[in-house]
Amino acid sequence: MCGIVGYVGAQQATPLLLEGLTRLEHRGYDSAGIALLGGTGIKVAKRAGRVRDLAEGLPKRFAGRIGIGHTRWATHGPANDVNAHPHTDAKGLVAVVHNGIIDNAASLRQRLADEGIDLVSDTDTEVLAHLVALSEESTLEGKVVEALAAVDGTYGLAVVHADFPDRLVVARNGSPLLIGVGEREMYVASDLAAIVRHTTTVAHLGDGEIATVTAGGFTTYGGDLRPVTRTAETVDVDPAAYETGEHESFMHKEMLEQPAAAARVLSGRLDERFGTAHLGGLNMDARETRAIRRVKILGCGSAYYVGQMGAALVEELARIPADAEAASEFRYRDPVIEADTLYVAVSQSGETIDTLLAVQEIRRKGGRVVGLVNVVGSAIARECDGGIYLHAGPEVAVASTKALTNMFLGFALLALQLGRVRDLSIADGRRLIHGLDRIPEQIQEILDRESEIAAVAEQLAAAESLFFIGRVRGFPVAREGAQKFKEISYRHAEAYQTSELKHGPLALVSEVVPTVAIVPDDELTDRNVGALHEIAARRGPLVVITHADVDLGEVECVRIDVPRNERELDPVLLVVPLQLLAFHAALQLGHDIDKPRNLAKSVTVE
Ligand code: F6R
Repeated sequence: MCGIVGYVGAQQATPLLLEGLTRLEHRGYDSAGIALLGGTGIKVAKRAGRVRDLAEGLPKRFAGRIGIGHTRWATHGPANDVNAHPHTDAKGLVAVVHNGIIDNAASLRQRLADEGIDLVSDTDTEVLAHLVALSEESTLEGKVVEALAAVDGTYGLAVVHADFPDRLVVARNGSPLLIGVGEREMYVASDLAAIVRHTTTVAHLGDGEIATVTAGGFTTYGGDLRPVTRTAETVDVDPAAYETGEHESFMHKEMLEQPAAAARVLSGRLDERFGTAHLGGLNMDARETRAIRRVKILGCGSAYYVGQMGAALVEELARIPADAEAASEFRYRDPVIEADTLYVAVSQSGETIDTLLAVQEIRRKGGRVVGLVNVVGSAIARECDGGIYLHAGPEVAVASTKALTNMFLGFALLALQLGRVRDLSIADGRRLIHGLDRIPEQIQEILDRESEIAAVAEQLAAAESLFFIGRVRGFPVAREGAQKFKEISYRHAEAYQTSELKHGPLALVSEVVPTVAIVPDDELTDRNVGALHEIAARRGPLVVITHADVDLGEVECVRIDVPRNERELDPVLLVVPLQLLAFHAALQLGHDIDKPRNLAKSVTVE
């Protein structure tokens, strides 16, 4: 959420900053700006809109070899030119870009106003520029530390100062910040995506640390300005993963990458001989694993819904009571943390602040947390006691797809391992392993029917309002289907348990309110089909995601059959047509698929 990029070296900074911002745009896209530090001091260009609007509006001579850039997702104040970052002090000596939220911004604004300083924007960030400018410390590092001492909140930030023309200073507390090492040039970024074409050798700043970055290198310090060592490491990443290639959008590309991504998360982790999974990264021996009495899964948004699917897997396979909870609510209800509960944090980005804070709360109270995380070395991955990396590859589209598939498979591996040190038989373990082995090709089978599903989506796109319904295993699938649909099509899509429909929402069903029903071939099929009749009797149009040979009776509907696997694994296949439905409905409606309205990738603010 929000993106930062910075450059210091021998090249002109503007094209590098604009390119970096374009690659960060999925993290915020309501306004953008850059500040350059040149021979004549600091120059700033910023405006509401996309990075391309910024680029088109840049002054002719906008040169400098040190600069910082930002793409914004508004928190304080609307998306307009003034609120766009970078922010400067009154004299224009200091420019700051910032991700995160300054919680005490209101009192700091008042303090600055009392000192006669005019604040021009509505943002929390602007106070930082003034505080740095007011500091009487002799070094830029000292000024930044003094300014930050007054601040409560989260930040990843980059600062330039006209009196220190050879450097950028960056700082981090809760929002990621990395330093990229080039040949006599250096980069800073909130996300590797911004700089991946120029360097993959990076050092991650820790929370509470700051760094000086010059063309010749970088130095890292703790908050007290005592040097700390941070070594740059080369990351194994293919820059093409950050390009759309032949696809019209990242979401499309990432949906189609699912078979390969699914194969990666399973690779080397299935043990056919013992009918189990090997997850060394959990850092738990068999005795500790057997001592677990409860599993509590925490995630946000779609990760929470997959967490619900994961809880069902853990209960079914390991027979351990399990549930999932929205991480954003968890710590506010002062939860009881139990020593024999295994807490599982699930996150694609590994940065979602609500999930991170939940992890910290659990660990503060002595609980054990493992992570199911996609981004290696991310804050949540580092905060956990152990975990499973999802190996989905970089996910750029705001609407998550391949990471969610791999989260489900990660839960299946976890449930298998937990189950096999308890009552799950070797035969059942092997049955699931064979099922998991088939998942990548079965996802491919569904993706191969994209044009058929696209035709259904075009009908759904016409509806202002839709229901997504399912029961038990199918309910989190319905929730994820509704989430994806509303997120990118902006249609009102509501998920309900099929069994609850008749207790109220059936009142809304009519010929203009379609229902997408999840009806797998399982112990609830007959009851699900009964509900379809009730909807059809009220002239509600129906799309049914089901298995071949499931008898839907005389119900008038469009059916989409998914391949059969083991029942426990059904959700991961049932959800794929829902991704395609959402994608093609949004395409039909002409929306910007990768940059849905009001949203951004990686929610790093509470
Ligand atoms: C939906 C979506 C969001 C994320 C949620 C958690 O498509 O992407 O609901 O699932 O913001 O994000 P992570 O997984 O990064 O913690």
